[in-house]
Amino acid sequence: MQSALGAGAAAAVPAFLSGCSVSSRASGNAASAGATGAKQFSSTLDFPKNFLWGTATAAYQIEGAWQDGGKGESIWDRFAHTPGKIKHGDTGDIACDSYHRWREDIALMRAMNLNSYRFSISWPRIQPSGSGPPNSQGIDYYSRLIDALLEARIRPLVTLYHWDLPQALEDAGGWPNRDTAARFADYADLVARSLGDRVSDWMLFNEPSAFTDLGYLEGVHAPGRKGLLDFLRASHTVNLAQGVGFRALKAARPSARLGTAFSMSSCEPATNSAEDKLAAERAHAITNLWFLEPALRGRYPEAFTFLPETAMGIKSSDLEKMRAPLDFVGINLYYRTIASAPTALDRFTHAQEWLFPVRMAGGQQGAKTDIGWEVWPQALYDMVMRITRDYNRPEIQITESGCAYNDPPDASGAVHDVSRIAYHRDYLAALAHAIADGADVRGYQAWSLMDNFEWAEGFSQRFGLAYVDFKSQKRTIKDSGKWYAKVAAENRVGPGLEVRVGPGL
Ligand code: FCB
Repeated sequence: MQSALGAGAAAAVPAFLSGCSVSSRASGNAASAGATGAKQFSSTLDFPKNFLWGTATAAYQIEGAWQDGGKGESIWDRFAHTPGKIKHGDTGDIACDSYHRWREDIALMRAMNLNSYRFSISWPRIQPSGSGPPNSQGIDYYSRLIDALLEARIRPLVTLYHWDLPQALEDAGGWPNRDTAARFADYADLVARSLGDRVSDWMLFNEPSAFTDLGYLEGVHAPGRKGLLDFLRASHTVNLAQGVGFRALKAARPSARLGTAFSMSSCEPATNSAEDKLAAERAHAITNLWFLEPALRGRYPEAFTFLPETAMGIKSSDLEKMRAPLDFVGINLYYRTIASAPTALDRFTHAQEWLFPVRMAGGQQGAKTDIGWEVWPQALYDMVMRITRDYNRPEIQITESGCAYNDPPDASGAVHDVSRIAYHRDYLAALAHAIADGADVRGYQAWSLMDNFEWAEGFSQRFGLAYVDFKSQKRTIKDSGKWYAKVAAENRVGPGLEVRVGPGL
């Protein structure tokens, strides 16, 4: 969840749904605790049969080999090669070198007992200049990876677009250019034809609200543009691309199951005032629904004072075009958002806040991870329940959640990342309660399989369940990875899964 503007559900959601699909050995349901209203989640919980345990990665963050195998330049290659854009001048040129070391990476997943792997396809590996016939070396790479995953009984969960647009398409206008939606549909069709005989579960986009905002409005991610109009137009093109990409993929592979990984953040009003509650709804709309509502309902969210239709380039037939009845909703969630109503003299740090208008900030009560994000497990519970309630209990996949903690290896090479274990344990407990309260959640993909290139933060933030020594490329499963292996094997979180530390373990 990369955003200066995380936002989401307003109030705590009651357990209103029946039909629990989880067998919970919880010693009672999530109960309200303390003046903060935060819930305490009991910690022994079983997950439903066939629950999928996985990790998530993205092509640019792990593959490296930026010029190998006929790959074209992406906007992230160009951006990272531009001095001053990435911390310490890091680039994804080599990253985890997964393009060459994917067998080792599958071995890590096997050692962690995982049965799902979310990864992304690099568009410029498939279409080096963003259009035209597929590059066979690119297809072959993913084909081998998928075959090996299936052989290891790991479900491939494939993202078509995790932010690495072919640079040639950016040169033609990028996402603000409507034509990019048609290019995306062609790419979706190509990939589905080449790999769709073995892949059934796909995601069209990763975090559309993050890449349109950070890439086209704030300029801190590729392609580094800073324009309100660019952001508005990019948003609309991506919504169109979701619709046309959905239909292209379904036409090529009718049995494919499609979703998008939306960045989400539960929104709480800063106070109980009516103004702040309304502001929290606007925050929820811009952060969580800006790309979900068009897909599921063929319209933009209703919470705004007005919609800048002309600036966005919306045409009358577009609403129907945006509709994409997704088979599942992917949720990436890391933290909550506190929303308040702006006052007349407020200075906005961000154009979205001014446009919609709402003030948004991260919570301050929970502990912070090394990247500064608040740890708040209830955000996952609230978000999953809000989507469950508002969208008629859709199938949900947690497509990302995780934490940056930069614990180094000790003298023996082991990484005792106890904070990461606590993070996943508590978020999973919250998730199990959402399932017990009626949400249809089918899997959890921890971000990330291994430490990798964290966008503008370069290699300074480690999110992995496996440690990567970027000089030697050696991978070491951290204590959190060993713990996650037990969670996956036993299909539960709870006592008895502690990781023993000591020589040889
Ligand atoms: C998400 C991104 C993912 C990773 C995590 C930490 O927003 O989808 O690529 O950077 O944040």
